[in-house]
Amino acid sequence: MKFLSRSAEETQIIGFSLGKLLKSQGVVCLYGELGAGKTTFVKGIAQALGIPESNVTSASFTIIVEYDNEIPLYHIDLYRIEKEANIDGAGIWDYIYSEGITVIEWAERLGKVPDDFIKVKFAIIDEVTRDITIEGIDEKDWNYM
Ligand SMILES: Nc1ncnc2c1ncn2[C@@H]1O[C@H](COP(=O)(O)OP(=O)(O)OP(=O)(O)O)[C@@H](O)[C@H]1O
Ligand SMILES: [Mg+2]
Repeated sequence: MKFLSRSAEETQIIGFSLGKLLKSQGVVCLYGELGAGKTTFVKGIAQALGIPESNVTSASFTIIVEYDNEIPLYHIDLYRIEKEANIDGAGIWDYIYSEGITVIEWAERLGKVPDDFIKVKFAIIDEVTRDITIEGIDEKDWNYM
């Protein structure tokens, strides 16, 4: 599925719409350069799960932020992780396979991921416009909210 987002708010709404489709366990990989809108999108997913969006900030410095919630959310940011060995060392795969939703910024660092992971690719078109492609969800389930 392809979207053209013309504001941060719109990107958040697309994240929200995806969040509403998620089951109690799943992985969402986010790809795209600095400032592409990944964290903005995570705010929308969090909101859909009942987590206040204001609680969601960039996870760059912490690598993993856990949100205690009915459906737990793990917000991972691999920007600062360079090597696969470090990813294993941080126990990233344990989060990925635990109960709950795991959202991963800079998923490029993971290398190849299983086909059942949802993939969201962001491209910067101009200052306020982003191209967002979502793979791994059924278009007929989608409700734009
Ligand atoms: N259409 C848009 N969608 C998302 N963000 C937008 C859009 N237009 C402008 N922006 C701005 O771009 C920035 C996106 O920041 P955000 O932290 O979400 O990016 P990021 O991909 O998480 O970056 P990083 O790689 O540093 O973590 C924000 O300042 C936001 O206001
Ligand atoms: Mg970010």
